[in-house]
Amino acid sequence: MEDHAKTNTLLERAEALARSRLSDKRYEHTLRVADTAEDLALAHDLEADRARLAALLHDAAREIGPEEFLILADKWHLRVGDPERQSPKLLHGPVAAELARRELGIDDEEVLEAITAHTTGRPGMGALALVLYVADKIEPARDYPSVGRLRTLATEDLRRAAEESLRRAIAHNEQRGKTTHPASLAMLDWLEADRITQSRIEQ
Ligand SMILES: [Fe+2]
Ligand SMILES: [Fe+2]
Repeated sequence: MEDHAKTNTLLERAEALARSRLSDKRYEHTLRVADTAEDLALAHDLEADRARLAALLHDAAREIGPEEFLILADKWHLRVGDPERQSPKLLHGPVAAELARRELGIDDEEVLEAITAHTTGRPGMGALALVLYVADKIEPARDYPSVGRLRTLATEDLRRAAEESLRRAIAHNEQRGKTTHPASLAMLDWLEADRITQSRIEQ
């Protein structure tokens, strides 16, 4: 009972933090991702509360300015590579995870990993991180040709849904002459290798 009350308070505080830092549009996106992440967690026997918590916080740093991202990253010793220096908003996941840790005292490493990795993904990410990564791409307001298929796939197989979603993002970048973050490419390699191993086991 006490744990339940604690979880509810934490979820309320996370929602309030997102509300205080985000425009209506981004806050509403956040709530849709939270509902989607919860549904996906339930579909895959994961803890819905932890998925919701990560989702409520995932974009909490999204409206920080480019210079402040770099200042905070330096102060908090976050990894800043060339892609982040060129596009500081790539730091909004890692910075949001630090806010979660510092402002809400969250120390659940899987929740923090999910928040950190939600933008670029990363190889070897855990199930909760995959839930958030995919939920962000398929929340109900997302509208692109393959989204329906991805929504179905997401309830069946999270890794395959993440793989499809990554391929789509990479193709999109290529069309616009943009490079893809190395962590996303490494994540795709990881998911492909995992799929090949899995199909060998099933044979
Ligand atoms: Fe984001
Ligand atoms: Fe998002």
